[in-house]
Amino acid sequence: ARIDKGGYKHFMAKEIAEQPGVLSNALRAYLNRDTIALPVEGLDFNKIDRLVMVACGTAFYACLTAKYWFEKLAGLPVEVDIASEFRYREPPIPSGTVALFVSQSGETADTLAALRYCRDKADRIISVVNVPESSIARESDIALPIHAGVEVGVASTKAFTCQLNVLLLLALKAAHARGRMDDAALAGMLDDLRGMPGLFNAALDRDGVIAQAAQKIAEARDVLFLGRGLMYPLALEGALKLKEISYIHAEAYASGELKHGPIALIDKSVPVIVMAPRDSLFEKTVSNMQEVMARGGKVCLITDAAGAQEAGGDVWQVIRMPEVSETLAPLLYALPAQLLAYHAAIAKGTDVDQPRNLAKSVTVE
Ligand code: G6P
Repeated sequence: ARIDKGGYKHFMAKEIAEQPGVLSNALRAYLNRDTIALPVEGLDFNKIDRLVMVACGTAFYACLTAKYWFEKLAGLPVEVDIASEFRYREPPIPSGTVALFVSQSGETADTLAALRYCRDKADRIISVVNVPESSIARESDIALPIHAGVEVGVASTKAFTCQLNVLLLLALKAAHARGRMDDAALAGMLDDLRGMPGLFNAALDRDGVIAQAAQKIAEARDVLFLGRGLMYPLALEGALKLKEISYIHAEAYASGELKHGPIALIDKSVPVIVMAPRDSLFEKTVSNMQEVMARGGKVCLITDAAGAQEAGGDVWQVIRMPEVSETLAPLLYALPAQLLAYHAAIAKGTDVDQPRNLAKSVTVE
């Protein structure tokens, strides 16, 4: 079937807006009441010593997010790498290693080469893909489709949240199998996950506020994104989205690294986008924010109601998200990051769906 914009101005806008429905479908495909129906039969999570995850671009940031989940929830050591580095480094792959590749297209040359490098070395090769007939899917022992549907916009949006969804389900399955999460805790997580499409709708309802913030951010030459813990990979993804489609120079740092360099860049011309739900690390992030504001930096805080209250009145802009559990926050916070980049690009008049110099699928090195 021909894919059209379905009344939206851009494929990217359509694909952002589709996320509640797309995630519902993906959850329907993978959840049976209180169990996770991922086709990973024969994979014994108790016999795995380590997971190596490799990808490019947005898919790499999905891997980085998943590292926090696998380590914290399942106690499984994870290494994450960019495919173009991994493939030439000749990394040792000891037995007990499962290699996992994430790719929307399933055709990215570097990711495919990294997979082939692991072919006879890893215990098992898993891929998380959007295109089940792709090369990466075909060459894997287990291919897990993300069920995002065709993604046309060059800047990945719904594929990212669907990659996160499958990686989280896999991490939860590993946590349960490894005895780190009991039936009740797993069922609770899955219930929360079933509520995520509703939270996505609430996040999309913030579109007007986000567009206003984006108008101002679009005036900047440089933008800094900060996040801690699970929000650090999200900050990286937010900065990538912004530079891809609005051509504004954006960098992301782990909040704790602020004082080790990027704080030197802060002045009133550099908006600092802080992604921080009111979680266990929030207090530390507030003190990073104060360091920014003390130097005249303008903070745009993406948080929840409790976070907005604690952050106080000196924050330049607040984008308020619905409340969400700490583990699931990355899925939800992907949406304001996407919308911010989208509206900044609109404000700048750039070609949102076909940004200059970029390709949807990079099948050459
Ligand atoms: C390109 C696209 C990105 C994507 C990356 C990896 O750079 O523009 O949106 O994240 O490739 O693509 P893959 O298909 O492997 O996920």
